[in-house]
Amino acid sequence: MTLFLLRRCIPILLVLIPGVASAHEGMWLPTLLKSIEGDLRTAGLRITAEDIYSLNQGSIKDAIVLFGGGCTAEVIGEQGLIMTNHHCGFSQIQRHSSVERDLLKDGFWAAGRSDELGNEGLTATFVVRMEDVTDRIVPQLTPGLSEAQLREAVARLSEPIVREAVDGTHHAAVVRPFNYGNSYYIIVTETFRDVRLVGAPPSAIGKFGGDTDNWMWPRHTGDFSLFRIYAGPDNKPADPSPANIPWTPRYVLPIALDGPQEGGFAMIFGFPGSTQRYLTSYAVRHIQEVQDPMRIAMRRASLEVIDQAMRSSDRTRIQYAAKQASISNAYKKWIGELRGIKELGTLAGKVAYEERYIARARAAGKEDLAAVLPQLEAAYGQVAPYAIARDLFVEMVFYGPEVLRFADRFRVLVEDLDKLQASGGAQAEADKQLAAMAAFYKDFDVEVDKRVFKALLPIYREHLGPELQPGVLDEIDKRFRGNMDAWVDDLYARSALVSPEKMEKLLKPFNARSAKALQADPLIRVSRSFFRNFLEEVRPAHATLSDSIEAGMRTYVSGMMELFPEVTYWPDANSTLRLSYGSVEGSEPRDAVVYGTFTTLDGVMDKYIPGDPEFDLPQRLIDLHAAKDYGAYGVDGTMPVCFTSSLHTTGGNSGSPVLNGHGELIGINFDRSWESTMSDIQFDPAKCRNISMDVRYILFIIDKYAGAAHLLEEMRVVKGTHPPRTIPLPIHR
Ligand code: ARG
Ligand code: GLU
Repeated sequence: MTLFLLRRCIPILLVLIPGVASAHEGMWLPTLLKSIEGDLRTAGLRITAEDIYSLNQGSIKDAIVLFGGGCTAEVIGEQGLIMTNHHCGFSQIQRHSSVERDLLKDGFWAAGRSDELGNEGLTATFVVRMEDVTDRIVPQLTPGLSEAQLREAVARLSEPIVREAVDGTHHAAVVRPFNYGNSYYIIVTETFRDVRLVGAPPSAIGKFGGDTDNWMWPRHTGDFSLFRIYAGPDNKPADPSPANIPWTPRYVLPIALDGPQEGGFAMIFGFPGSTQRYLTSYAVRHIQEVQDPMRIAMRRASLEVIDQAMRSSDRTRIQYAAKQASISNAYKKWIGELRGIKELGTLAGKVAYEERYIARARAAGKEDLAAVLPQLEAAYGQVAPYAIARDLFVEMVFYGPEVLRFADRFRVLVEDLDKLQASGGAQAEADKQLAAMAAFYKDFDVEVDKRVFKALLPIYREHLGPELQPGVLDEIDKRFRGNMDAWVDDLYARSALVSPEKMEKLLKPFNARSAKALQADPLIRVSRSFFRNFLEEVRPAHATLSDSIEAGMRTYVSGMMELFPEVTYWPDANSTLRLSYGSVEGSEPRDAVVYGTFTTLDGVMDKYIPGDPEFDLPQRLIDLHAAKDYGAYGVDGTMPVCFTSSLHTTGGNSGSPVLNGHGELIGINFDRSWESTMSDIQFDPAKCRNISMDVRYILFIIDKYAGAAHLLEEMRVVKGTHPPRTIPLPIHR
């Protein structure tokens, strides 16, 4: 039995007192629902744990999709139709867009199967089952292993478990640690590889409010898109092919036409990415005082450049849309998180908790448990400069000027050239890179990139200790008298990387001269220096120290469970399938500020700014609003748009289905309010609210706005009390 099953005190009373938020902290493993079923029923669940997660019959979990690497989607149609957020399908929508055929701007609705658009590399993964295998792993681990040895031992022990689980099937499986390795689960999955775009509203609906409204309530975004899973003739996953057919699902979520109800039970099922519920005060202090402020400064600088460029031309707007969205999203989240933990007094709370922890450990005669905190404190102190360097590397190379990462594609040609030439593979490698280059240059603007480089470099150098700076930066002082801009200008002026024509000339044919030129290319040299610095100076030390933190956290968290058994524990999110529950409710996030629960199309119209990049609206939506032509989806002359509920969510929960107590879809999650983003570190039931689209707005957009009523025919829309009636849609009036 795993440790986080230990739960005693159930706060039932809270649910019964009116006016007290019925939020419940925690992201629960679906296999453990039986253990909290009583709690769930008290909160309003009207179906059974078995209806949610079953190995014997189709259950809700069979409708939950890990969409690509990081979002959630859900099955809503008999023919493999799935739904996720617009921002989750954003890069696919963007990739199918050009100035001539702008799906971002105009939206997209496939008229029939043959119009649906394939997406290379996009996958849809289902959890076949998960199982606690702690007993097959933990007892076999000899005490005193280093973290590296431990990982090796776990890998060795996992191998037969995985083999047993997948042999003779097309499934995959992994064994994953939970609670810092206090327990382990095997997760068996089925992954589909042919996932096509079916529908998306225009960005003016799907991203309405843009970054201004992102992470904010009240919200008025129609953040959804539709895809379809295709399978081989045997209904099993197959490589993308025109011969594939729409997949027949095991379970399809019914959609509740009544939508979310104020105060009603709500639950959310999805793949939350990561939370840090059990951090020590030392870690929180680092986040609060160093990490968040530094990363915020880096992103603010690059966003200033990119936002301005995107305003200046349609071409740059499309090129940088997806990149801008990913840079700005975490930027704004960190700002909210920083404010949230400060307001909650998370740091002081952790310090006080640690004192109580040590006192209890001493009282119980557990000196080893008491000793782990000073050990963690020391380790956090040691890791800090490396953690800073690592974050800066990520910000600079993965979110900064793109040339740095692009240059890394040529590493083999630069560093393994002798080997490549000996095997005659150099030209083949050069051709491969030439072929892959077009996709990069499609979204690349040299001037923007150069400006981002210039904006980030001073911040990067300011935060990075001199002993951890990439060697190549010495040039700035030695050859450019400290003038960073001049150094950057010189790099871009002399590098071939900045233009596809120059690269073509350089790589075709690939001969001794090309090799020399590549090696000498200034941006390749800079990129190599950044990577080498990170790989050689930063990562090894960071990894060793992180290992000792991981080991310390393992002890600390098991100590918490032992010393504070009256508390309910849930394992930090780790991109595995989880369920959170709470209710449909607003909040009072700040003094004199009250957040209502629902927004409507009237509010969308209130925000309308003609011609604005974030708040413009399509004429058709304006007309539907003017005519109050809401069909079966409106309520008393208004059209519901978004709602908040007290569900504990995080990144990765985007696109997750929000269900009522009967397991019917009432919304899809797409965000949290700004006052909630600290919930990755500390959840505040009074303030933390996730933001979802109301299903009625989704149906309205598909039916009334897009005229794509044929899609509704695949869905199961239900209405009224239980058992519900199935409504044949579209309802034509
Ligand atoms: N904040 C949401 C999430 O974390 C939505 C992000 C996409 N929207 C945007 N305006 N960038 O994914
Ligand atoms: N938009 C987020 C996502 O991509 C969900 C919001 C959150 O972090 O809660 O998963």
